[in-house]
Amino acid sequence: MKVLGIETSCDETGVAVYDTALSGAAGLRAHAVYSQIALHAEYGGVVPELASRDHVRKLLPLVRQTLAEAGLGVRDIDGVAYTAGPGLVGALLVGAGMARSLAWALDKPAIGVHHMEGHLLAPLMEDADPIHGRPEPPFVALLVSGGHTQLVAVDAIGQYQLLGETLDDAAGEAFDKTAKLMGLPYPGGPQLAALAETGTPGAYRFSRPMTDRPGLDFSFSGLKTQVLLAWRDSDQSERTRADIARGFEDAVVDTLAIKCTRALALRQAQDERCNTLVVAGGVGANKRLRAKLAENAAQHGGRVCFPRPALCTDNGAMIAFAGALRLQAGQHDDAQVQVTPRWDM
Ligand code: KG4
Ligand code: ZN
Repeated sequence: MKVLGIETSCDETGVAVYDTALSGAAGLRAHAVYSQIALHAEYGGVVPELASRDHVRKLLPLVRQTLAEAGLGVRDIDGVAYTAGPGLVGALLVGAGMARSLAWALDKPAIGVHHMEGHLLAPLMEDADPIHGRPEPPFVALLVSGGHTQLVAVDAIGQYQLLGETLDDAAGEAFDKTAKLMGLPYPGGPQLAALAETGTPGAYRFSRPMTDRPGLDFSFSGLKTQVLLAWRDSDQSERTRADIARGFEDAVVDTLAIKCTRALALRQAQDERCNTLVVAGGVGANKRLRAKLAENAAQHGGRVCFPRPALCTDNGAMIAFAGALRLQAGQHDDAQVQVTPRWDM
């Protein structure tokens, strides 16, 4: 089954074709992402109306380009998957409208996918590890994006239990806001991370919020305030900016890692097979987070799986893949164009 995936929930237009006849990364016949970063940069954040208009402009050319790269004609497509939420309503409607229209014209099924389920399943689309194989439920997923920070127990595909989540800012949001208050341009997360690589470890130490009490929830907004005060009282030099960035990144990474270890221990006590952590979402591209979680997994005899960085951030591939699994299971939507901007997984 060849499934066209369309992602337009925020500021990235993503299109991909996933072919279930081929497994792992080979199944991803083609994928392309058009980022609207330059469009929103001068406003310091995503402007919803501009996002919708740009998706309208870019989506159809991107569908054509992706099909051409996959060596397929539109009639070769067996189903269409699109992000139905959560996200910006206007942006979601562009993708949903296109997906439903294509499916209707081709007389093929369409399916709306939860954006975070797309992220969660992305690591399963990668090639199987030669030693451990592909991650299989039960596992624990850490979803870390610009809008979400969640720990989820995955007992089966489609069977998710929320173990913990952020009470305020998401991890990516904290990266972006912290970068902004130190004068880095939008979107600051990846830039802050790059700057942190040149910072001195330990020059600034910030707290590891909510790690000193039981539980699996997170809170990142206080960290941002700690950085604000440190930056305000500093010499505001390049060196200091890098040192603060490093201190901030270490605090976020340690906090996430501590809660992941805790979540795995909790799940393993209930089911000893559960020793795998799957990480997804934009912050999953963070090098230090990847290294720290790999180090912890080695120490605890567990396993950690990430998608390649390009599949951590928003993309159409994860939507094509998640949609393909649902279509294969016989699910599909009716012909209405409907999106769910606020939607718990
Ligand atoms: O998953 P994603 O592309 O979009 C959402 O669904 O939100 O995640 C975007 C978030 C942004 O907040 C961005 O700053 C953050 O992921 N991000 C990073 C890195 N790359 C992207 N944060 C830290 N380090 C990175 N290398
Ligand atoms: Zn996302």
